[in-house]
Amino acid sequence: MNVQAIFKLSAGISFLFLSLLMISGWGLSGGYIPSDSEAFSSILYLRKMGGIGQMIRSLHFYLSSGLIISGFIFLITFFLLGYVSQYVKQWYFSLALYFLIVGSCFTGYLLPMDQNAFWGTQVRLGIVETIPLLGLTIANLLRGGLTFGSETLSRFFTIHGSIIPVLLSFTSIILIQSQWEPIKELLSKSSIFFGTILGMILIYFLTYSISAPLELPANPIDVEYIPRPEWYFLWLFEFGKYVEWAPWIRSALLPLAGTLFLFGIPFLKQNSSKQRYMIAAGWCSIWLILTGITLYADRNLPDKLDYEAAMFVQADENYQSLCYDCHGATGKGDGPQSKTFGLESPDFTLMTYWKQTNDDQIIKAIKDGKGKDMPDFKKKLTQHQIEALLNMMKISYHPNN
Ligand code: HEC
Repeated sequence: MNVQAIFKLSAGISFLFLSLLMISGWGLSGGYIPSDSEAFSSILYLRKMGGIGQMIRSLHFYLSSGLIISGFIFLITFFLLGYVSQYVKQWYFSLALYFLIVGSCFTGYLLPMDQNAFWGTQVRLGIVETIPLLGLTIANLLRGGLTFGSETLSRFFTIHGSIIPVLLSFTSIILIQSQWEPIKELLSKSSIFFGTILGMILIYFLTYSISAPLELPANPIDVEYIPRPEWYFLWLFEFGKYVEWAPWIRSALLPLAGTLFLFGIPFLKQNSSKQRYMIAAGWCSIWLILTGITLYADRNLPDKLDYEAAMFVQADENYQSLCYDCHGATGKGDGPQSKTFGLESPDFTLMTYWKQTNDDQIIKAIKDGKGKDMPDFKKKLTQHQIEALLNMMKISYHPNN
């Protein structure tokens, strides 16, 4: 396949991905509640319900990464083919589109309000703050105040769900209307037909096999949490480590230099195709090397647990700290306190126990207490945590498991 073909293909795929992202985002906004207390639950609801809601979320999540890749390939082949000085307007609008897409990823990252979203956004806003002179103002504007608060989420949601999509639509329309050969060809009948089929296949594979990750809900007290950016920002994260003594190099100088370079390419002296390949190769290798170093440095970090797995671990910890005393380490009802005071704690490992109870009764007992000795936990545990305890008890103690 030659560069020309890759260029056209990446343009087509990017347009397809962008449209699917718009549509799925539109779908998601129907179920999403942009408030501090409910954002996470609304995403969790989609996840638990499975089906179409979960599928749309996964689609939205994975296509955003897909678009980062296809857009990058489009830009780099645009450059390699030497089209930049010929099609200045198209180059600028393509760059603008790409920046909007990155901005969309930056803001969309916070919306699920899980641990990664919350702490990752804290780090990003911290980076924004290090921009000389303007940093604090920009960060406060994004945050809606000096600290992360309920305003923050609604601002990010407005930018992600209203402002950027409008700008994206305008930019794409201008690009499409610019009567540019590759785009005109794209809009021909056959490519729309094949694009749609490809899109359908993609939707199927992306969303039925893997679901978009979700961690525990954001916990602003958990300062131990180590956030990591998405894969495409890892290089910037790594780069930041080398310029800790002057963080503005990463937050201002590098983006400014990069932007000026990209927008300045049309004015550079016409370079030979060999030079262009060298520049592109240099660019990609720096990206690859920095990303590789971070991945290597992070290889021993504990795996990020998905919501269900993390809830299980948390339930186990809760059990050992809150319930062990009476119910015993293995659920047999033989904890130290039960033994000392002769409490009648049930044995969760017996079939006879599970036969005379049910989920509602167990949840109620944990929430409100039971008999004279089982304390209530409604102040210590949330509904989700209580449900997770029940789930953990079933998996760990139920005799049929
Ligand atoms: C101070 C001792 C004590 C602690 C602490 C305690 N329990 Fe209990 N628990 C009991 C006793 C005693 C019973 C039996 C109550 C009865 O049936 O009258 C009981 C009953 C239960 C039951 C049976 C409910 C049913 O009707 O099927 C469940 C489930 C349960 N506890 C879960 C927990 C969990 C989960 C924790 C920790 C979050 C916990 N308990 C902490 C003493 C305790």
